Amino acid sequence: LSPQDMAGKRVLITLGPTREYWDAIRYLSNPSSGLMGASLAVAAWMRGAQVHVVAGPCSFVFPPSIRVTRVVGAREMFAAANDFWPEADMACCAAAVCDFRPVPPPCGIGNKLKKRDLDGPPVMELEANPDILRSLGQNKRDHQTLIGFAAETGDLLPQASLKLTEKRLDLVVANKVNVPGSGFDAPTNAVLVLDRNGRVEHWPELPKTEVAWRIWDHLQHL
Ligand code: C5P
Repeated sequence: LSPQDMAGKRVLITLGPTREYWDAIRYLSNPSSGLMGASLAVAAWMRGAQVHVVAGPCSFVFPPSIRVTRVVGAREMFAAANDFWPEADMACCAAAVCDFRPVPPPCGIGNKLKKRDLDGPPVMELEANPDILRSLGQNKRDHQTLIGFAAETGDLLPQASLKLTEKRLDLVVANKVNVPGSGFDAPTNAVLVLDRNGRVEHWPELPKTEVAWRIWDHLQHL
């Protein structure tokens, strides 16, 4: 039987990739499967929490007791997450949000850009998306706990530590995205965990379901 140590807690989780449409059929995205966030959602639910997931395009079907808002683009995810945040006790941003979105071509985002209407390859211009985690951090109240992820290719600790302070997090979970067995679209993850008290832990390569369970364990002792 699962411990009911998250009973009554309202937990918001963003997960999956975002998809940034350029025209009617083309988009920018990344290989996020949503597994890390889905594992966190199911683990929190099993431990008694009331869970609200804001999911970018992914294939998960969640248990009916988990509330799911499905979104496509970063701006939509931003709006949904910010809407629910004031009612939540915790949020965990596990989504791989696209930092940039294409500026729509002259034909407009609702139409297909046609080769025959162009002189050569078109140039795609990008503009910045809002940072969801940063916004939740800015609006965080004393009783609220905020968890972020950091997908990195270099040294984990300095980048995790910067993210923790800049985004006003209570916990940051950093993983490498350029090694096998970790990061995007892998069933396992090897992470570094850094909390607001400066405690650092390196966890070995574990199934994402196990990493999720340990993240909630870690929060109990924060
Ligand atoms: O700054 P960086 O994008 O590396 O931070 C990663 C963390 O920020 C993740 O928790 C991710 O879900 C969150 N994030 C977000 N909105 C963005 C970009 C990142 O919530 N636009």
